[in-house]
Amino acid sequence: MPAITVHDKSFETYLPEETILQRVKEIAAEINKDYAGRRPLFIAILNGSFMFASDLFKQLNIEAELCFIKLASYKGMKSSGNVVTSIGLEDDLFNKEVIIVEDIVDTGKTLHNFLPKLMHQQPKSLKIATLLHKADATEYPLQLDYVGFSIPNKFVVGYGLDYDGLGRNLKEIYQLV
Ligand code: IMP
Repeated sequence: MPAITVHDKSFETYLPEETILQRVKEIAAEINKDYAGRRPLFIAILNGSFMFASDLFKQLNIEAELCFIKLASYKGMKSSGNVVTSIGLEDDLFNKEVIIVEDIVDTGKTLHNFLPKLMHQQPKSLKIATLLHKADATEYPLQLDYVGFSIPNKFVVGYGLDYDGLGRNLKEIYQLV
């Protein structure tokens, strides 16, 4: 298997481009069926989900909206942990059919902290589509409605995912050797 180096680490091909695109098509087909006539709003979480969101959106044949947001975590006044805020969410979510688009769910902490803030706006429905899920690493309960691939608890790069800023442009997904 062809290996690549990103920064100081070696990675090997894990999911080839065709495999990813085929799975994205299948997820889009499910969403096309589930959301026919419902005009969902996709909220894609930057930076990692940009490629998945783009390829997924191209395969939709229903009416749908898309926005990109960035989540920022900062230390709160108390030592109780990180608070997550969103940047770029201008749409009013009241009564909307929302689908969150993520690149990867690892511990689940990011979405677990963020979802209550979205629920506060009273969307009509809220579902999660994630390309990758590290099931063994998940510590925070989350219902994942559309999952591309369940993967082992190993670091991956490519197809939007980075290692310390690099690797997002790779067409395939690579796993740490
Ligand atoms: P969580 O809050 O632990 O679920 O982490 C989610 C975020 O961590 C993702 O949106 C990614 O930005 C990052 N992340 C987790 N695992 C990986 C990985 O294997 N490669 C690249 N980024 C990762």
